[in-house]
Amino acid sequence: MSTPAIDCEHVTHRYGDFTAIDDLSLTVGVGETMGLLGPNGAGKTTLVRLLTTLTPVQHGQVGIFGLDAGRRTMDIRQNLGYVPQQLSIESALTGRQNVDLFARLYDVPRRERRARVDDALEAMQLLDVADRLAKTYSGGMVRRLELAQALVNRP
Ligand SMILES: Nc1ncnc2c1ncn2[C@@H]1O[C@H](COP(=O)(O)OP(=O)(O)O)[C@@H](O)[C@H]1O
Ligand SMILES: [Mg+2]
Repeated sequence: MSTPAIDCEHVTHRYGDFTAIDDLSLTVGVGETMGLLGPNGAGKTTLVRLLTTLTPVQHGQVGIFGLDAGRRTMDIRQNLGYVPQQLSIESALTGRQNVDLFARLYDVPRRERRARVDDALEAMQLLDVADRLAKTYSGGMVRRLELAQALVNRP
């Protein structure tokens, strides 16, 4: 069996004496799509923060493509695309500048940057509006721009 994309073993996470995640184990295979559903306060965001290495793992094991989220934080971040709940675009920049910013943050090599930014914009069908300020985009276009940001590092 190949290494899973996500492998959580007995993950428990507490805020003080409040237990937000209680002994969670789950596996998501390569190429598999998983939706995590639950009411407000169920612990979804806490889990996503553990998977993306934004919050340190307290108890249990979190593996991302075989990398331990407790140790290999930068390697994992380099290989993740993440569209957060809160908007992450800069409205005073153009669509292209917004994606280019993420390419720089992810250390996409300088000579590849232009092509990668264009590829991500193209994939989200935003190439023809790429040089407009993001504040002129509709809500749906903003969401697609965020997807382009999350794809530019080829996660
Ligand atoms: N930084 C924090 N400090 C204390 N309690 C928190 C913190 N973050 C989340 N919680 C609590 O942990 C529980 C799970 O929250 P969260 O992971 O945001 O759930 P969801 O995303 O499913 O709505 C909630 O009861 C929330 O109040
Ligand atoms: Mg949440």
